[in-house]
This record gives sequence, C-alpha cells and structure tokens, in this order.
Amino acid sequence: MAKPRILVTGGTGYIGSHTAVELISAGYKVVIIDNLSNSNRDSLDGIEKITGVKPDFVEADCTDINALTALFEKYTDIKGIINFAASKAVGESIEKPILYYRNNLNTLMNLLDLMPRFGVKGIVFSSSCTVYGEPDQNPVTEAAPIKKATSPYGNTKQISEEIITDVINSGAPFKSVILRYFNPVGAHPSALIGELPNGVPQNLIPYLTQTAIGIRKELSVFGNDYDTPDGSCIRDFINVVDLAKAHVIAVERMLEDKAEAPIEIFNLGTGIGLSVLELIASFERATGVKVPHKIVGRRPGDIEKVWADPRHANEVLGWKATTPIDDTMRSAWKWQQHLREAGIM
Ligand code: UD1
Repeated sequence: MAKPRILVTGGTGYIGSHTAVELISAGYKVVIIDNLSNSNRDSLDGIEKITGVKPDFVEADCTDINALTALFEKYTDIKGIINFAASKAVGESIEKPILYYRNNLNTLMNLLDLMPRFGVKGIVFSSSCTVYGEPDQNPVTEAAPIKKATSPYGNTKQISEEIITDVINSGAPFKSVILRYFNPVGAHPSALIGELPNGVPQNLIPYLTQTAIGIRKELSVFGNDYDTPDGSCIRDFINVVDLAKAHVIAVERMLEDKAEAPIEIFNLGTGIGLSVLELIASFERATGVKVPHKIVGRRPGDIEKVWADPRHANEVLGWKATTPIDDTMRSAWKWQQHLREAGIM
C-alpha cells in the first residue's frame, strides 16, 4: 500500500532535511514548509540528489495560519506532521524572547488547531534534553523531573510539551510522539546536506569544523573546571542520520496505530557521555586535522553534564543510535569541505 504524505515543517533545516531524506527513502511522500529563516533552498537539491525525489516545497511561515490552511487544502493526503520549525539559539532567545515564544508556540498551536479539520492522525514534536536542565543523575531517563527552563528557548520546548499534552487530553483525534534530542551532530555521509548556521556558529560542531578549515582562528572551550574527569562539559552527541531514522519509526507508530498511548515521549541519544575535549580529540583522530583551541571561562547557562538513557527508545521503538562518533566527526568534516568546494563558506 502506498504510504501517505508527511508534512515536514522546518524541512530545509538541519535535522528536518535529514529526516526528509529518511522519510522519502522509506516510501513516504513529503511536503516541506519552511520560511528559510535559518536554512536555504540548496537543501532541497541535496535531498533530491540523495533520494532521486524532489520534495514538494512551500515557502511560508508556520505562524501564518492562512498559509498553513492553504497548504493543507492543496495537499489533502497529509496524514502526519513532523514539526521542526522553530528558533533554536539559546543566547538569542534570551535577547528576543517574544520572537521565540511567537515562532515556536504559534507554529505548534496552528498545526494542532488544523490537524482535526484536515484529518491528520499524528504529530511528532522536536523537543530537547534541555527540559531536564541540570539533571540530578545521569544517564537521564524520560521519568527524570522537568527542571525550570534557563532560557526562553528551553521554556518553549517545555510549554510545547504541555500544550500537546493538554490538547491530546482534551480528546483531540490524533496522536503525538515527543522526541527529546540530546546533541545532534554530523551530516549525511554524502555531504549533500548538513548543518549550515547563519553567522558565527553558537554550537560546538559547526564552530569546530569552521576552525579546522580556517574560517575561525580558534575554538574556545567553555570551561575546564567542571566536575567531570577532564573538567569540560559532557554531552551525548548523536549522529543526525541516526536521529532522523527515529522520526520515521515514530511516524509509523502513530499512523499504523502501534503507539501504546496517545502521547509517547522518547529520549534520543546514544547513552554515551563525551566531554567537549574528548569530542575535539575524536575529530582530530578521525580526520587527521588539528583543531586549534583554547580554554576560556564557562558559558553562562551551560549544563555541566547530561547524557541519555536511551533504553526506552531502544526497546519500544526498536531504534538505536549506532554510528561511531569518529564516523560522525568524519561526516561533519566532509560537509564542511563540501561547503568550501561549493563556494558557500
Ligand atoms: C543547547 C541546548 C539544546 C539546544 C541546542 C541547540 C541547553 C542545555 N542545551 O545545547 O537544548 O537544542 O543548544 O542550539 O540549553 N562549546 C564550547 N565552545 C563553543 C561552543 C560550545 O566549548 O564554541 C561547548 C558548550 O559549552 C557545551 C558543548 O560545547 O558544553 C555543547 O554546546 P552546544 O553545541 O552549544 O550545545 P548545548 O549547549 O549542549
């Protein structure tokens, strides 16, 4: 039986584009909506080169309910949504809270509002391990307490989870899977899609690869006085293609009525905590390229250590992040080199 269409909001972005590839490869039809605020059309070409299929694309903002309504009227076969469309820079969210609340929350509310009218059966929501704050213990299970958010960005993820819960509990005729990502890194092995931040990168890996290729002089390591073996922060770095594959399984659960409950929550991580310094060493080992770096002071708001207990996702979804970190680092490097060759950076 032909698979239905999935609406991928934010689908030209980093995780969205990788997920579009996996959906198409699994036989789903895809329509992407994106306002291109933090991505560009090149990723549509990348998706097409990898899969042989050009995804349908609507350039519009998901906070615009008229544009969204028109999209659902045009693509009447949409049965599921994966909602990636959101602003995601922690620092910027502290400076521009309204932008973050408006973008992230209005987008979600518009989608939830329109789903019943257009017969959409499920929505996958991109959440984050940020909801756990500084966890009391690692690895973190889904049962760990939600801590007060330290940024408007983090708060939008918490509020979004609550909105979805309230809407489902009100008897809405659809299901939801909430995926709490740890730190997604790397790029598609083809290097045809990857992460392309605007301006100076805030996240570790784009800053690291831009330093390795000479765009940035030096990577600053934010703190070496944390209570960790080497003093730098610890994260759970998960390969973006592994992460993307979990979305296909989540969609299938909702649409094929395999879900055990109307809302399911899964941590998506590897279960391995790696320090910032260990990650730099992995990159250097995997690529043979040195990353000039220096230790500087802590970055305000950073979590000391957080890594996932992914067993719930492993057992229930039958999904596991399997890509070794060195392979992931090679893919990030290949992507950075592709950007250079394509004259993009
Ligand atoms: C943060 C958010 C996460 C969000 C993600 C997306 C928290 C706790 N986490 O992740 O929810 O989804 O941003 O933007 O709010 N680092 C350096 N030098 C750099 C950059 C980073 O040392 O130039 C260090 C950081 O101090 C941190 C680690 O690298 O320890 C990872 O940082 P980053 O990639 O920014 O991600 P998070 O802050 O973990």
